[in-house]
Amino acid sequence: MVNFSSVPKTISLFLFCFLITLLFDLAYADPDPPYKLCSDGRGYVENSTFQKNLQSLLNSLPSIASVSKLYNTSAGIEPDRIYGLYMCLNYVTNEICHNCINTAHLDIVRICPNSTEAVVWEETCQLRYSNVKFYGELNVADNIVSANKKNVSDTKKFENTVREKLRELAKQAAYNASAKMYATGDVQYEDKVIYALVQCTGDLSGDDCDKCLRHAIEDVLRKYYFSIGARLMSRSCYLRYELYGFYNGATEASISRSPNNNKGDGSSEILRQHVSFPDRSFQGRNPEAEEYPYISLASIHAATNKFSDSSKLGEGGFGPVYKGVLSDGKEVAIKRLSSCSEQGSVEFTNEVRLLMKLQHKNLVQLLGFCVEGEEKLLVYEYLPNSSLNLFLFDSEKRAQLDWSRRVNIISGIARGILYLHEDSRLQIIHRDLKASNVLLDDDMNPKISDFGMARIFAGSEGQANTTTVVGTYGYMAPEYAMEGVYSVKSDVYGFGVLLLEIITGRRNAGFHQIKRVPSLVTYAWKLWHDRKGLELLDPLLLDSCDSNEFLRYLHIGLLCVQEDAYDRPTMSSVVVMLKSETVTLSQPEKPAFTTGIFADHYTETDASSNSVNGLTVSNVMPR
Ligand SMILES: *[C@@H]1O[C@H](CO)[C@@H](O)[C@H](O)[C@H]1NC(C)=O
Ligand SMILES: *[C@@H]1O[C@H](CO)[C@@H](O)[C@H](O)[C@H]1NC(C)=O
Ligand SMILES: *[C@@H]1O[C@H](CO)[C@@H](O)[C@H](O)[C@H]1NC(C)=O
Ligand SMILES: *[C@@H]1O[C@H](CO)[C@@H](O)[C@H](O)[C@H]1NC(C)=O
Ligand SMILES: *[C@@H]1O[C@H](CO)[C@@H](O)[C@H](O)[C@H]1NC(C)=O
Ligand SMILES: *[C@@H]1O[C@H](CO)[C@@H](O)[C@H](O)[C@H]1NC(C)=O
Ligand SMILES: *[C@@H]1O[C@H](CO)[C@@H](O)[C@H](O)[C@H]1NC(C)=O
Repeated sequence: MVNFSSVPKTISLFLFCFLITLLFDLAYADPDPPYKLCSDGRGYVENSTFQKNLQSLLNSLPSIASVSKLYNTSAGIEPDRIYGLYMCLNYVTNEICHNCINTAHLDIVRICPNSTEAVVWEETCQLRYSNVKFYGELNVADNIVSANKKNVSDTKKFENTVREKLRELAKQAAYNASAKMYATGDVQYEDKVIYALVQCTGDLSGDDCDKCLRHAIEDVLRKYYFSIGARLMSRSCYLRYELYGFYNGATEASISRSPNNNKGDGSSEILRQHVSFPDRSFQGRNPEAEEYPYISLASIHAATNKFSDSSKLGEGGFGPVYKGVLSDGKEVAIKRLSSCSEQGSVEFTNEVRLLMKLQHKNLVQLLGFCVEGEEKLLVYEYLPNSSLNLFLFDSEKRAQLDWSRRVNIISGIARGILYLHEDSRLQIIHRDLKASNVLLDDDMNPKISDFGMARIFAGSEGQANTTTVVGTYGYMAPEYAMEGVYSVKSDVYGFGVLLLEIITGRRNAGFHQIKRVPSLVTYAWKLWHDRKGLELLDPLLLDSCDSNEFLRYLHIGLLCVQEDAYDRPTMSSVVVMLKSETVTLSQPEKPAFTTGIFADHYTETDASSNSVNGLTVSNVMPR
C-alpha cells in the first residue's frame, strides 16, 4: 500500500503587532509551497529505465507549460512507463505557468526522491506523476489543507458564506462547458469580500469534478472553519479562498500597469475593492485610523523629533532616511521621498498599498506610509544590524560571516527575489539589487529593501523600455545599462554579482584597482575558465568552506551574470540550484562587460555610508 506523508516546510509565522489588521490578512500566510505527496515503500532504482523515463517526461514539461496550462502525457513502455499530468491555475499567464512548472519539475525529484508516485503543489501549479495510469480517475485521498493563521470572529456565519459560495463555484466549474473546470467569484462578508477559486484537473468528467470539489469543500471547512482563508490541494482538484483578491491577474495588471488612467474605467473601482481605502484617510487621523496602515504626519514628526539631524540614519537617492520611535515604542525606519513628483497622491497611495501586501521573511516589511501636502513618507521595520555591504566590505566584520552564514544570506536573497518575481502577484522587478540594499536582522538573515521603488517612481512595472535607468553600475545588467531594457533577468544579473561578492568578499566594481582586471565578474569567469576558481575563495572562509561547494556557488554566480539575458536562469531555477547539490549545472557563457568600462562607479556610493535602510540610486539616461 502506498503511504503518504505531508510536507515538512518552514512555517513563517508572522509576528506583527502594529496598528493594522484589515490589510494584513495576507501577513498570516500559509506555510510556503511546495506541498507534496510522495509514495514511499519500495521506490525506483537509481539509473533505472524508470528513472530515465521519468526524467525525460519531466524535462519535457516546462516548455509545454509556456503554451498550455493543462497537460497530460506519458513516457516509456510498460513496465517502466510513467504517466504525468500538470495543471496551472487558470488565472496565471503562460510565463508564470512555465516558471511554476519549471520549479515543480525540479522540486518533485528533489522532495520525493525515488517515489514511484508523487504530486507537488507550487504556488500556482501542481504536477503529478505515477507508474500507474490515473487519467480520468477521481482521487480525493490524502487531500492537503493549508490555512491562513488568522481567525474569523463569527465562524458559523463565515463558514456558511464560504460553503455556499464554493458550492456555487463548484457547480459552475463542473457543469458549464465554457468554464473549463475553473471558476472564481467573490461574495460580501460583513464589511469585507471573500474571494474564492476552484479548479479541476480537466481529465475528470463533470460529475467527478463536482464530487472532487464537494469533498474538498468539506475537508477544508471541517479542519479550518475558523480561518480567514485556506487552500485545499487534491490530486484532482484545487480550491482556495481568501479575504483578498488573490486570483485576478488581469485586474491586478490593469491596476499596476496604468496608474495614470485608472480613473473612471472600472479599474479604480476594482482597486477600491482590493484595498478599500477611504479618501478621508488622506486627512490624517480619523476614527478608522487603526484599521489602516496610514500614519499621520504628526505621528511621524513626533517619532523623528521633527526629522531632527540626530534621528537621521543616512541619505539616499530617493531622499533621507530617519530612525523613528512610534508612540507604542516600536522602532521604525522612515524614508522621506524627496523627488516623488511623477505620481499624484492617489497613485502613490495605490502603489504603496499594493507594496504593503508583499510579505516575505526576506523582504523588509513596509509598515505604513504618509502622504500629506508635499510630504511622501514610507515607514519600514527597523533593522539594527544594518546592511550587508557594511559587513562584507570591512575585513574585520567580514570575519563574522562564515560560510554557513553566507550561504544563508545568499539563499535568503534568492528567495526574496523569487517572491518578488513570481509569487507576489505583482511581479516586481527590483532593478537595484546590491549589497547596500540587503539588510540583516539580528540573526543575520537577509532582508531585501527598496523593492518596488521603481513602481513608486515610474508608476509601472513589467518588461519594458524605460527612459530613466535607475540602478547602480556594477550591478546593472548590460541590456539595462546600455539600452534601458529590463526584465526579471536583469535582477538575476544583479543577484549574480551580489553572490560573487558574498563568496569572495570583494566588490565587483573597483576591483580592477587591485588586480588590473576590469571587474570581479570578468576576473571570476577568467579564473573559472582556467580552472583556477579557488583563487577567488575569500581567505577568511578557508576554515569554514568546502572547496567544492565554493566552486558550485561560483558556478551558479557565473550562470547569473551571463551576457545574454536569455542564457541566465530564472530565480526559481537559481533557488533550486542553490539548495540541491545534485542538479547538473550548464557551462556559463562569457559574462557581460568583459571590457570593463563600467567598473568603478560603485565605490563612491557605498564605501563610507553607514546608512540603515539606506538608498543608493544613480539616475542616468540610457544611451
Ligand atoms: C533512493 O535509492 C537509492 C538506491 O537506489 C538509495 O541509495 C537512496 O537511499 C534512496 N533514497 C531514498 C530517499 O529513499
Ligand atoms: C548512476 O549513473 C551515474 C552517472 O552515470 C553514476 O555516477 C552513478 O554511480 C550511477 N549510480 C548507480 C547506483 O549505479
Ligand atoms: C490524456 O488523458 C486523456 C483522457 O483524459 C487521454 O485520452 C489522453 O490519451 C491522455 N494524453 C496522453 C498524451 O496520454
Ligand atoms: C483559531 O481558532 C482555533 C480553533 O478555535 C484555535 O485552535 C487557534 O488557536 C486560533 N488561532 C488564533 C491565532 O487565534
Ligand atoms: C459559463 O461560463 C462562461 C465563462 O466562464 C460564462 O460567461 C457564462 O456566463 C457561464 N454560464 C452560466 C450559465 O453560468
Ligand atoms: C546584530 O545586532 C544585535 C543587536 O544590536 C547585536 O547584539 C548582534 O551582535 C549583532 N550581530 C552581529 C553579527 O553583529
Ligand atoms: C526597446 O527599445 C529597443 C530599441 O529602442 C527596441 O528595439 C525594443 O523593441 C524595445 N522593447 C520594448 C519592449 O519596447
